[in-house]
Amino acid sequence: MPQTDFLVIGSGIAGLTFALKVANRLPNSKITIITKADESESNTKYAQGGIAVAQKTRFDSPKHHIADTLKAGDGLCKKEIVEIVVKEGIPRLKEIIKWGARFDKKSSGQFDLGMEGGHSAKRILHHKDITGLELERKLLQQIHRKKNISILPYCYAIDLITEHHKKQKSSEEINCFGAYILNKSTNKIEKYLARITLLATGGAGQVYRNTTNPLIATGDGIAMACRAGAIISNMEFIQFHPSALYNPGESPSFLISEAVRGFGAYLLTKEKRRFMFDFDKRGELASRDIVARAIDYEMKKSGDECAYLDCRHLDVKEFKKHFPNIYNKCKTLGINIKNDLIPVVPAAHYLCGGIKTNSQGKTSINRLYACGECADTGLHGANRLASNSLLEALVFAHRCFLDAIKSYSKFKLETKIPEWNQKGTTRPKENILITHSRTELQIIMSDYVGLVRSNSRLRLAKKRIKMLEEETIHLYKRSILSPQLCELRNLITLGKIMIEHSIKRNENKGVFYKI
Ligand code: FAD
Ligand code: SIN
Repeated sequence: MPQTDFLVIGSGIAGLTFALKVANRLPNSKITIITKADESESNTKYAQGGIAVAQKTRFDSPKHHIADTLKAGDGLCKKEIVEIVVKEGIPRLKEIIKWGARFDKKSSGQFDLGMEGGHSAKRILHHKDITGLELERKLLQQIHRKKNISILPYCYAIDLITEHHKKQKSSEEINCFGAYILNKSTNKIEKYLARITLLATGGAGQVYRNTTNPLIATGDGIAMACRAGAIISNMEFIQFHPSALYNPGESPSFLISEAVRGFGAYLLTKEKRRFMFDFDKRGELASRDIVARAIDYEMKKSGDECAYLDCRHLDVKEFKKHFPNIYNKCKTLGINIKNDLIPVVPAAHYLCGGIKTNSQGKTSINRLYACGECADTGLHGANRLASNSLLEALVFAHRCFLDAIKSYSKFKLETKIPEWNQKGTTRPKENILITHSRTELQIIMSDYVGLVRSNSRLRLAKKRIKMLEEETIHLYKRSILSPQLCELRNLITLGKIMIEHSIKRNENKGVFYKI
């Protein structure tokens, strides 16, 4: 029976950072990272713009970064968490550089800081336009050097193990004893017992049809935590990125980084009208919620399918140097940024809410931590400031680590947990039902729970999702489980929570807008 001291679910920046820190501090402990796809597959891998860290200089300071984060969050950030993340981000950045991460520098040797929407100063450290890939690679390199870390790809966490699964239930409080894991190479469901479990399962962009998030972003950790009884909060705050490349048929959508607007690109309508100053005096560099809604407004008014990014006035050589990935992607589609406009549309990008945690990353369930995009720490409030997500993951992975190592040895591995029971289930004859239902959910969410919502549309969505839920639960109960079926069940759970929280909220804040 697999047993471990620390079970880490997810191999993005949050999970890997936590695992590495524990392994360094406790060389005799056992850390197991399970991850449902290839070990590098994650939202982290696709992060482009970079990581926001404000050092005290002539041009910037942590004080300004705090003010910008609070402003973007529209009054709903927890101020003490914002201060923690901004201030502790500075030592965390030094650590990740020590682990090998490289950030672009100017010829003077200083960091070549980028600008993004909602920031009052240039403070984004980046590795060209593939910052996430650089971080993911360097973290994995470090992980592979650690003898006390096992990383298990293609292992899918189905559910957390709590008192609910115990043969004898002894108390009212909820503890997490590990998780049931479906090993895709053996097709067996195993119970992984752990002293401490960390959920680092990332976001849920796949709830929507148009998203920048890869296929793995199905909100599994949040759905598992919800089933186990954890508090889930702020799920109405879904951030749409203003500028996903409009390329019908391509899914997930390729991102045209906000840093491109920070570099000087304009937003235009099809008639080549620059419109952002009609909405905000910061123009293209207003925060994401404002830019995304402005594009949505212009598209609805004109009936156009997209807006356009104009880079024609920019220095192509410099552009290519900063954004080689974006430049090449455009080129493969026949878009020459010197002469052509880049078609863009808003797409679901980031989940501001999630599993509620305290300032140490502890959830409302004992022995269970959450960090990264699946957690709601209170940093983002109603809207995440660009490039604050990688930063939050680093800071909270560290805080979870500090708290977890204090208590882990007092927790025993729980032995009275039954094996997963598959009795009476059969393998579905075809999987097309699952694929259809996933698409249907994505369409409902995109059409009725998008950038601009209304109570009547939300109620309609609730009704339709209820039908999908009933069908899926029926299928779930009689089927031998597959990751696809579990993901569908989780996506439906998340859609339901997003709708419920949206119906409850009666004040427009940040990314949340209801008419
Ligand atoms: P992830 O990196 O998403 O990792 C989640 C992990 O959990 C994955 O390994 C996944 O396979 C695993 N997992 C999920 N469910 C299960 C399961 N059931 N069982 C086992 N494993 C599971 N943020 C910034 O700050 N700056 C940027 O420039 C930036 N650019 C972005 C660009 C794009 C295109 C996208 C999509 C996001 C961007 N973000 C950016 C957001 C940021 O990348 C993410 O919020 C952050 O990387 C999340 O890290 P994470 O470790 O929490 O989750
Ligand atoms: C981007 O590069 O535009 C994404 C940055 C982010 O999501 O923080």
